[in-house]
Amino acid sequence: MADQYPFHQREKGKQQTSMKMHTKELMNLMRKQWLLSHVYIEIIISIGFGATKLWLSNLTIDPKFMHKRQQRYGKAFKSFVLGRFTVFMTGREASKILLTGKDGMVSLNLFYTGQQVLGPNSLLQANGEEHKRLRRLIAEPLSIDGLKKYFHFINSQATETLDRWSGQRVLVLEEASSFTLKVIGNMIMSLEPSGEEQEKFRSNFKLISSSFSSLPFKIPGTAFYNGMKARNSMFAMLDSIIAKRRNGEVIQQDFLESLIIKHSKGKTTFDGENKLTDQQMKDNILTLLVAGHDTTTAALTWLIKFLGENPEVLEELREEHLQIQANRKDGTGLTWSEVNNLPYTIKVLNETLRRATILPWYSRKAAQDFQIDGYNIEKGWSINLDVVSIHHDPGTFPDPEKFDPSRFDAPLKTFSYLGFGSGPRMCPGMNLAKLEICIFIHHLVCRYKWRALEKDDSVQATLVRMPKNKYPVMVEPL
Ligand code: HEM
Repeated sequence: MADQYPFHQREKGKQQTSMKMHTKELMNLMRKQWLLSHVYIEIIISIGFGATKLWLSNLTIDPKFMHKRQQRYGKAFKSFVLGRFTVFMTGREASKILLTGKDGMVSLNLFYTGQQVLGPNSLLQANGEEHKRLRRLIAEPLSIDGLKKYFHFINSQATETLDRWSGQRVLVLEEASSFTLKVIGNMIMSLEPSGEEQEKFRSNFKLISSSFSSLPFKIPGTAFYNGMKARNSMFAMLDSIIAKRRNGEVIQQDFLESLIIKHSKGKTTFDGENKLTDQQMKDNILTLLVAGHDTTTAALTWLIKFLGENPEVLEELREEHLQIQANRKDGTGLTWSEVNNLPYTIKVLNETLRRATILPWYSRKAAQDFQIDGYNIEKGWSINLDVVSIHHDPGTFPDPEKFDPSRFDAPLKTFSYLGFGSGPRMCPGMNLAKLEICIFIHHLVCRYKWRALEKDDSVQATLVRMPKNKYPVMVEPL
């Protein structure tokens, strides 16, 4: 034991020295690790930023990039994007082949984040017969006749929104967004335009919408993670509404009700089709919300901006609307038949969709080998139709940067204007979008004049092209 003590001491001493060394080494190591971890973090951040930039640039492809490539290579060029060949094409021949997609030649090419957010049953992921079936289902409620019942709601929301504009500084994009969200929420599930449910709906929708062009990392805190969480919360809300409708607690005359009635009893619907499951219903309701909201918001904002920049167009448009007011003998408000007879306003909308091209390219995937304009396309390739250059082709639209609704006085050549697309994937929501925009514009131009507070033409790098500064204006009564 005697030996043991000094030994022990010696050992302790050794241990102390080695512990000191250990602590020193450990400190050095930790310092190195700390420095290294910062380097790692920086590398990860820059890769993250780079990847996000790349991801966004691939989703939102810069028109300047397209223009340069087209000048160098002509109507078609191939690029390696996100690990696969992507062909970029322009021209009427390409539009015709890609958008009509005869004999199952192409399918819609929804990017990964979109697939996850909208779900596997979304119309945007369906092809062939399943796609046709889903289109039939939404065709009636979105037809001109089917929309008639929402006229009063849309009209009251437009006037209520505009009541708040008098003498105010307004961010047009935000106002348009709030208006179109109230409309689509009411049309789909009779959501009240204000209150707790509307707020919950709005905040979930915002998260879903901003997750759409994010990187698909399901890590807490990321836009994608928050979007997927908001999707679940939106679905929980829909589940509870569907349950109330099935119990007969609430009866409404909306889009959801039409699906529930058609798809609740028996194995097949009354027109002999297979029933939709609740999951299919929910994925497609979300699809309509996502496809219909940002697009209509952007179109309405660009239209107001173009009117502000083109006083002679505004004057002619205002004349059309003041005339229908003057023709009313009984002093009543806007009517359904008046809103469906606005030829100049429709030309202004078409010119807006041409000039702004809010969806700059339509993406397809080759389901077989084929040729376009003598260019070989191989099965599995992604093909993006560059709509910006189709809409700015000086052969069809002389002086293409000019905002000129008279371009639509005479019919255009087929596949040269694609504001709402063409073929089997043509926008099923265009009647609703036109209705919302015509009603809003009627009240706006009959009541107000406005002045832009900034001169800025930059475009937000999102999937749907919108004015980056949200178009701030000062509004005065006429
Ligand atoms: C001004 C507003 C709008 C514009 C400019 C617009 C434009 C378009 C375009 C160009 C397409 C075809 C894209 C392609 O071929 O790849 C499309 C498809 C679609 N739109 Fe719209 N849209 C608008 C409003 C709406 C609204 C209000 C809804 C729904 C309520 C809607 C629902 C859809 C859906 C579900 C599709 C996919 C159709 C399919 O794949 O069969 N859109 N839209």
